[in-house]
Amino acid sequence: MSTVTLTINDTNEKFEFEVLEPTLGPKVIDIRKLYTQTKMFTYDPGFTSTASCSSNITFIDGEKGELRYRGYKIEDLAQKKSYLDTCYLLLNGSLPSEDELKSFDKEIRKRSFVHEGLKDMFKTFPDKAHPMAMMSSAVSALSTFYFEHLDVYDEAEYQVLARRIVAKVPTLAAFTYRRSLGIPFIYPDVNRSYTENFLYMMRAYPNENLKISPIEIKALDTIFTLHADHEQNASTTTVRAVASTGAHPYAAVSAGINALWGRAHGGANESVIAQLEMIGSVENVDKFIKKAKDPDDDFRLMGFGHRVYKNFDPRAKILGKLLEELKHDLGIDLELLKIAQKIEEVALSDEYFIKRKLYPNIDFYSGLILTALKIPRKMFTIIFVIGRTVGWITQWIELRNDKELKIARPRQKYTGPKDNKI
Ligand code: CMC
Repeated sequence: MSTVTLTINDTNEKFEFEVLEPTLGPKVIDIRKLYTQTKMFTYDPGFTSTASCSSNITFIDGEKGELRYRGYKIEDLAQKKSYLDTCYLLLNGSLPSEDELKSFDKEIRKRSFVHEGLKDMFKTFPDKAHPMAMMSSAVSALSTFYFEHLDVYDEAEYQVLARRIVAKVPTLAAFTYRRSLGIPFIYPDVNRSYTENFLYMMRAYPNENLKISPIEIKALDTIFTLHADHEQNASTTTVRAVASTGAHPYAAVSAGINALWGRAHGGANESVIAQLEMIGSVENVDKFIKKAKDPDDDFRLMGFGHRVYKNFDPRAKILGKLLEELKHDLGIDLELLKIAQKIEEVALSDEYFIKRKLYPNIDFYSGLILTALKIPRKMFTIIFVIGRTVGWITQWIELRNDKELKIARPRQKYTGPKDNKI
């Protein structure tokens, strides 16, 4: 057993802590007894040096720019497997056989319908409601219709529940869009695949046998796969914190959706395109790079930087390539693309970005592809939600099965008054 020793310099006391060995990645100092032994806390705002749980789902090596789900490289999954293969992999721990995939796919198609009452709930939202607000409300409201899932205790029940949520999320997502336009909702079509069905529910007229091109389906399917999980990011940490209290998964996923909405997290994809449009032309790029570097200006280059990746985000690399391939087929906005390419070029050779290891992240490229898929900007973060739901649920299941589970309850360094008197 490897250990580290903490020496309190003031008193020369020494405390020993075990060092835990992960299968991959940095070693972990087990400080669970730190407080009881030393009467001290650790201070780590934003959890930059904290492993909050053990997990065997997703691995990231931020220095190398590597991402794996259940040990499989993201590049292989994105190129050789479908999003539903990835969902099965995350939920079950192994890739499905042909028959397993067929029956999983069939089950997901059949579970994609939602209660009619839930559909009616959308009528009460104002026309200008943001789809993310409708989405988190709708997922939370699933618990009012499927209340038999509020208390689930075994793996079989968890799996049914996971499949229900994964299957229904695209339907709710498409409803948020149809509601924002005030146009009739389109029911799922069980003859269409997961990703095709979502595009169909977004785009079709009632009773229209809309054809969707395989190129578009493949592009969106890849985007879903790349978003499926990303270890203990802000929204997943939120899902786990809510789940640690014993709250049901609808509450946990709904909270995850709200956490994802922020511009520093999933909301960035919406902001990237808004920012490219604001920059307006290649000639203005230098001016905005200067703003991003100015310590007195809180302007940030959206789609750049990542807490974990200090090398190229591998998801961004895959999407960058896909963007090149789709440039002609999908009619990518070439002016926005030119601005994006110029930003990438300038930032990657600029001392400020190099020193801070700020590379383009997944959101830098996904917005351009989603724009070409004619997905409105307000729906970008919803696309992230569809892809990530399976990750949130898988993490929820892992937490429920974790024998070391404790309610998430960090402490603080108090800086307020000592003893005010009335
Ligand atoms: N533009 C300009 N400067 C930046 C940027 C940026 N996009 N990102 C970080 N910096 C600077 C920051 O000002 C700081 O500089 P200094 O050391 O001089 O104070 C330094 O880089 C470190 O930044 P940080 O905020 O301490 O880093 P973090 O790890 O806490 O934040 C981040 C990571 C993703 C929130 C941040 O890079 C950011 O705000 N990026 C823009 C938003 C974005 O694209 N978010 C999507 C993330 S990928 C999708 C997802 O997983 O959600």
